[in-house]
Amino acid sequence: MANKHKIAPSVLSADFSRLGDEIKAVAQAGADLIHLDVMDGHFVPNITAGPILVEAARRSTGLPLDAHLMIEHPERYIAAFAQAGAGSISVHVETCPDLPKTLALIRQCGAAPAVAINPATPLATIHGVLDQVKMVLIMTVNPGFGGQAFIPACLDKVAQLRALLDQRGLDVEIEVDGGVKLDNIKSLADAGATVFVAGSAIFKSADYAQTIRDMKCVIAAS
Ligand code: DX5
Ligand code: ZN
Repeated sequence: MANKHKIAPSVLSADFSRLGDEIKAVAQAGADLIHLDVMDGHFVPNITAGPILVEAARRSTGLPLDAHLMIEHPERYIAAFAQAGAGSISVHVETCPDLPKTLALIRQCGAAPAVAINPATPLATIHGVLDQVKMVLIMTVNPGFGGQAFIPACLDKVAQLRALLDQRGLDVEIEVDGGVKLDNIKSLADAGATVFVAGSAIFKSADYAQTIRDMKCVIAAS
């Protein structure tokens, strides 16, 4: 199917001293959306930036912006991220005591709701909200840092989720995030992932366009 797969460069591995140029470069190189990692130093051991990051990206590209909130109390900040220009907002199931309410808030604010799930968190924790999301973000590393190694056990989680979505007739994207590289992207696509976040694989490569082209080529037949 044409355009089924999307490549989402994560700017976490970009050169932040030239953020606007880096975003323009990956957009020019064939990126489908821009993945923005928001970390609070509580839910994850690292800190990035808040809505100001989304707002800066918004001024750099017309591509959809995918905000991945690795923060506690995400409901406090959803309106600000939507206002800043996020097209999709992912909140972690681990941080949301009332997940349906938080997803509804994202929708009310005009963004596409998505739920993110850590490697150690069972899929059953999100079974009840699958009809309320546009996308499920399956973490394939423990969140917090770019450049970590893909956890192979997550592959099965992707396949299980795709089977469940098909069984329920739900048209939901599966986004994979963490350690996605040229050598594992095809197995992820075959398992049913449709959105591929790649930080270091793209921003640490010499030629962004070539890397994105190679990734799309490898998964084209999946
Ligand atoms: C990690 C972030 C990822 C990260 C991925 O917590 O959610 O988006 O940037 O980086 P790579 O692709 O280098 O693993
Ligand atoms: Zn991310």
